[in-house]
Parts: sequence; structure tokens; C-alpha cells
Amino acid sequence: MADLAEQLSAVVGAAFVAEGLEARFGLVSASARPDLAAFQCSGAMAAAKAAGKPPREVAEAVAARLSGHALVQDVAVAGPGFLNLSVPDAALSARAVAVLAPKAGFDGDLSGRRFVVDYGGPNVAKPMHVGHLRSSILGESLKRVLRFAGATVWGDAHFGDWGFQMGLMIAVIEEAFGADAASEQALATLTLDWLQERYPLASARIKDDMAFRDRARKATARLQSGDPVCRIIWERMRQVSMAAQKRDFAALGVDFDLWLGESDADPLIPEMVADLKARGLAEEDDGALVVHVHEKLAPKKDGTMGPDVPPLLVVSREGSAMYGTTDLATILQRKRAQDPDVILYVVDQRQADHFEQVFRAAAKAGYIARAQLEHLGFGTMNGTDGKPFKTKAGGVLRLADLIAMAKDKAHARLREAEIGQDFGPEEVEAIAHSVAIAAIKFADLQAFRGTSYVFDIDRFVSFEGKTGPYLLYQAVRIKSILRKAEAQGAEGGAILIADPAERALALALDAFHSAVAASIDKRAPHFLAEHAYQLARAFSAFYDQCPILTEPDAAVKASRLMLAKATLHQLETTLALLGLSAPERM
Ligand code: ARG
Repeated sequence: MADLAEQLSAVVGAAFVAEGLEARFGLVSASARPDLAAFQCSGAMAAAKAAGKPPREVAEAVAARLSGHALVQDVAVAGPGFLNLSVPDAALSARAVAVLAPKAGFDGDLSGRRFVVDYGGPNVAKPMHVGHLRSSILGESLKRVLRFAGATVWGDAHFGDWGFQMGLMIAVIEEAFGADAASEQALATLTLDWLQERYPLASARIKDDMAFRDRARKATARLQSGDPVCRIIWERMRQVSMAAQKRDFAALGVDFDLWLGESDADPLIPEMVADLKARGLAEEDDGALVVHVHEKLAPKKDGTMGPDVPPLLVVSREGSAMYGTTDLATILQRKRAQDPDVILYVVDQRQADHFEQVFRAAAKAGYIARAQLEHLGFGTMNGTDGKPFKTKAGGVLRLADLIAMAKDKAHARLREAEIGQDFGPEEVEAIAHSVAIAAIKFADLQAFRGTSYVFDIDRFVSFEGKTGPYLLYQAVRIKSILRKAEAQGAEGGAILIADPAERALALALDAFHSAVAASIDKRAPHFLAEHAYQLARAFSAFYDQCPILTEPDAAVKASRLMLAKATLHQLETTLALLGLSAPERM
């Protein structure tokens, strides 16, 4: 069953048609003024233009046709010609019942649609930083939402394991160990700490040490052409980094279906380059091979005209594959293995130009249609200085350290709130973990992904306000109410909406469908984050006004108990779509 706005749109659309106007004018949405009415339709204004009549006259005529309809409790014309609508309690009750179904009131269907979600994207030998954190959180949620809607979805980590940073670290190791660079002793040195300490130094050094930079570039090309020493070092670096990254992802509740990396697309590169050359798509440019992808000329910074998008570099002068090369080959690989309708790239907005180049090149080569490729950019997580978050020492914050920090704060909050004092240490630890993850993830998901936000862990772990821990707390509270009811022997029954707070809760439950639909349409989970918050608040207000455990009227009690069950089911469903989960108690 469709949600109330959709049901009303059909009814109001029919009334417009009866007036000789188009059905589309009858589009109904949740009201911008819920104090006046729950739903509104503003179509009369546009319809009036088409009809050549005053808008209020059109609105009055439509309203007259609506009054008395089973789905319309009240209809009023307001302002220039808005229709304010409310629905009868029976319709609200029916929607609340629908929430008890497995899909919690969502009724879209994406079955048959195939998606690859490319997210996470950590790099071998480099620590995971906050950009990877945002990508992981957003990508995980999008993957879950699409799957919930019935689509077939593959999440792919797309590890950065084939680029220049690999050659750079190989150059560092060869410098330290000379001819013994692939010896057991050298390999044993390659711990995660060693790599993560050396990487930033090496990366800084290439700025002035040209000979070193040259060696790193050559090492990248040697690795890619199968040099055995390079391969052995690379294998070890990859293994050490991936093991740590898998741990980090597990702690974050992020999971991939495909743990592939850039290197996995390498076998496709020779045939791809040959194909691009043969068809004249790739051209020689100063010793390198590029694909021109500009569509028009645009003014450059210096005022002269140039390509709107620079060419995609496919093979460097040293003969190595570039970031764009592996991305292009990965499209071919995915086309063959998953044949997705759409590939979603959940990557920092600052890589928008890169994806534009890759997408245009892929479309130009006919590998896939441009419309099947979407870059879902996101803003940065900033420090209080407004710049991308750094540690106090100025370094990148490691994901594992971030989680540990949030967990410490969560423990402190739990102690302050005297939560879990009589629980065993393991349970408290598990609760603190859930609270920490909820704090981090919800902070990231609550605003539109394109927006940057300031990292404020103290606020994020609070149990009050629009936070992840607040949502967990509300879910746990409902669980506790349901347990107590069960102990009383009370059972849920028919839902009968009657009280204003019950009405508000039923309307909040009804809004789930459109929140899921909007998250899918806009590829933006913040609609669901907002929904979770509004639902939790509506439940809290309902529970203040409408007692459950102490309610004397058996039918009212059974109804409210059922409403609480429906709320918990939908809240937990929403939390799961965001990648959060509430403990049993806290
Ligand atoms: N490894 C990249 C980085 O750290 C992110 C990968 C994003 N995905 C992609 N297909 N390029 O910036």
C-alpha cells in the first residue's frame, strides 16, 4: 500500500481531472505547516494558469469535490490557493499496521536493478583517513538502502594498490636494503607502522629530490610490468595493509562483497590500451598516451580558450598505468563480471574532475553509457579551523584511532548517565562500541553528503539532541517498554489512532516510504537519518502523552503496545539502513 501522500495524490488528482484539469496538479506532499494540516497540495496555482481562472476558484472547486471522500477528513483552501488536507484516523491506523510488515511501510521495488557501489577506497601503505571514513559510511548506507529496496548490489572496496604510492614505497625499501630488498629480513621490516611512518616522509621527499622521484616512478612501471623483486615487496605491503583495513572496516560495521583493488583490473589494461589505440581513441602526447575527452572549449584561467576537461592520461611516459587507467579498466571488468545498470562512486567531491574524465572516456570508447556512471561526491570532515580534520600533531587521523577516541568518550558518557552500572564489563564494552559507531556514523549521515561538517566528538556522543546515541537510546527505551509489557502478560492488538500524539506518531511512521525513496533518488542517506530522528522524537512525545504500561483501558493499551512495536520495527529498520544497531538494553 502506498503512503498517505501517494494515496491522497491519486484522490486529489482525480478531482482535478473532474474539473477538466490534469491529474499531475493533484500532487500531495507532507505539509510545510503541520500545525494547520498534515498534507498539502499547491497544484491549484499552476492549474489556474492553464485554466485561465483565479487560483482560489480552482482550489475551491477541487475542495468541494474532495469533501466527503473516505480518505479526506478535512479540506480547506488557504492563502492564494493551497489545499490543506487531513486524513481520518482510520487511514492513519491502517498505515501504522502496514509498518509491521517486513519492509516497515516501504513499498518501492528495485528488483531486477543491478548496482555496483564503489566505496571505501583505502590505499595500500597509506593510513585510512577521514575521507575514507566518509566514503565508507555513506557507501555502506547506500548499499544497504538499495538492497532493502530489492536491487542486486555489489559493494566493492576498490583498494588503491596499483598506483604511484606503491612504486614510492618500493623505492624506499630498495634504498634501505639494496640488493636484499626482497629478502625475508627486508620483508619482516614491512609492518604497518613502518609503512605508515615512511610514507609521508617519502611523499614529502619527492618534492625536491628529483632522482628519488624518478626511481619511484620507474619502480611503479617495473611493478606493473611484473618485475619479481617489486612484486614480492608489493605482495607483502598489500597483505599487511589489507589485514589492518579489514579490521578497521569490521569495527566500523562496513562490509564489502568484492574486496578488489586497482591491481585486479591490471590484466585488462593491455587489451584495453591496444583497443583504444587501434580505434584511434588514444593518442600519443609527448611520450605519454592520452584520451581526449573534452566536449567543448572553455575559457581557462589565463583567459585563453582550452578543453573544458583535460585529457585522460592512460599510459605515462615511464610506461605505467595511472589512476584513471585502472578506473577505466575496472569499468570493463565490472561490465563483464556484474553487468551493472549503474556504478556509483562514493568518493570525495575533490575527485570530481577525475571521474568526469574517466566517465567521458568510458562512454567515448563505448564501454558503458555515461548515464550508468555516477560520481557521488561528498564534502570534507573538518576540524574547528574549517580545514579537513587533522590530528593535534597535524597528521592524518587513523580510522582505528578515531574509533578508539569515540569509544573512550562513549564510556565516559555511559558512566555520567549511570548506564550499565550493573552490567558485566563485556556488555558495557559492546554498548560503548555501538554508541561510538552510532555517534561517528550519524554525524556523518545527518546532513546532505555534499555538505562539509565540523568534527565535534563531544557533541556527537551526547545522548541528547540530533545524535546517533539519542536514536539508540530511544530504540532501547522501546525495547524495555515491550519487555515490561510482556512481563505483565500484556499483548498488542488492533491499532486505533485517537489521541493527537498518536496521530503525530502515525504520520511519522507514514513518512518512512518517502524517506527511503528520496534516499534512493538523490543517492543521499540523510533523508533516512532525518526520518530516524523525527520518528524517535514522535515516539518520545507519544509516550509522554499516552501511557502504555499503566493504561487501564485494555483496547487502548493493546493498540499503543502495537504502535510501540511498529515504531521499534521501523526505527530499527531505519537504523540498519544507516549502518547502526541498537543494543538490547542500556
Ligand atoms: N584510493 C582512492 C583515494 O584514496 C579512492 C578510490 C575511489 N574509487 C575509485 N574507483 N577511484 O583517493
